[in-house]
Amino acid sequence: MFLLTDDELRAVYDASPDGCLVVGSDGTIRGANRRIGDLFGWPPAELVGQPIEVLVPEALRGAHEGHRSTFTDDPHTRPMGVGLDLRARRKDGSTFPAEISLSPWRAGESPLRIVCTVRDVTEQRRLRTFSVGALRATEEERQRISRELHDDIAQRLATLVLKVRRLADEADSMARKALGETVRRDVIDTSDAVRLMARALRPPELEEVGLALAIQAHARRVREATGFDVVTELEAVGEALDETGMLAVYRIVQEALSNAKRHSGTDRAVVRLASAGGRVVAEVEDSGKGFIVPEVGGADGLGIIGMQERAEMIGGSLELDSAPGRGTRVRIVVPS
Ligand SMILES: Nc1ncnc2c1ncn2[C@@H]1O[C@H](COP(=O)(O)OP(=O)(O)OP(=O)(O)O)[C@@H](O)[C@H]1O
Ligand SMILES: [Mg+2]
Repeated sequence: MFLLTDDELRAVYDASPDGCLVVGSDGTIRGANRRIGDLFGWPPAELVGQPIEVLVPEALRGAHEGHRSTFTDDPHTRPMGVGLDLRARRKDGSTFPAEISLSPWRAGESPLRIVCTVRDVTEQRRLRTFSVGALRATEEERQRISRELHDDIAQRLATLVLKVRRLADEADSMARKALGETVRRDVIDTSDAVRLMARALRPPELEEVGLALAIQAHARRVREATGFDVVTELEAVGEALDETGMLAVYRIVQEALSNAKRHSGTDRAVVRLASAGGRVVAEVEDSGKGFIVPEVGGADGLGIIGMQERAEMIGGSLELDSAPGRGTRVRIVVPS
């Protein structure tokens, strides 16, 4: 039981962090709180009297009317569209991912009303996409390592076993010496291959060499391995970031460079690193074909979501500046 006046209840309704609508059983909006105004870009008063479908993406409006009568036939409190990725439509036509709950409400003899709460779940969806993708990426990485061990290392060892057997059977001392030499070389090559694999799996030694030199070395490897030209303008940032911070920035630069190489359509990118005014700023810029920056992470890719997650994890921010025909600039700013 509340001991609140009508005015106080009204204020609570408006202060709710979730959007709240009261809808008639015919689908007419009868009330909307202030948060609905923020979420949908509609002044709440303008929504009153309009059909609820103005807040539903066009393509789903017909189906929504059908669902509405199902609810009024058997009204009980429930989330809407369980298992579906619901989206709601703003006044300007754009949409956002939403979680919607419905509950019936009847004051005395008055007709049935539906109380509908709306929550913007952009952030939760982004996190979910990221964790699902991260799990998938881990699985793929395991498969890649397993394949490399199987196809390369196991293969080399099998050949070695054959050679060693031949070595034991070889009667001629000259031939045995020559064969022994190839076995020795094979063992060295195999151990080099294992070492290379181990190195590729290990994070870079940021603590020892610092962020600038680690980025420099990565840029050189990209250049040598792919011919993609990476121009570097790097300042040492000293102790400005701890190891977690350095690793996050390093991984963001790595992904941004990989995107520039794979998607920009040019053969060159610039990487900058500087620290000033208590902030570390890293940038990767290309003047390639650019793209429309998605609202919630990438469509299928994990790269952009991962960069955003990493930036957030260390209290930094990621700016993605791109447009078709205008190149791309990825910028991360971290307070130090
Ligand atoms: N520098 C760039 N130039 C042009 N398009 C880009 C650039 N960076 C990203 N994009 C576009 O954004 C999309 C999403 O990038 P993201 O890194 O999230 O995924 P991906 O690179 O496709 O896959 P993943 O990173 O998971 O291997 C890319 O597929 C590409 O279309
Ligand atoms: Mg990518």
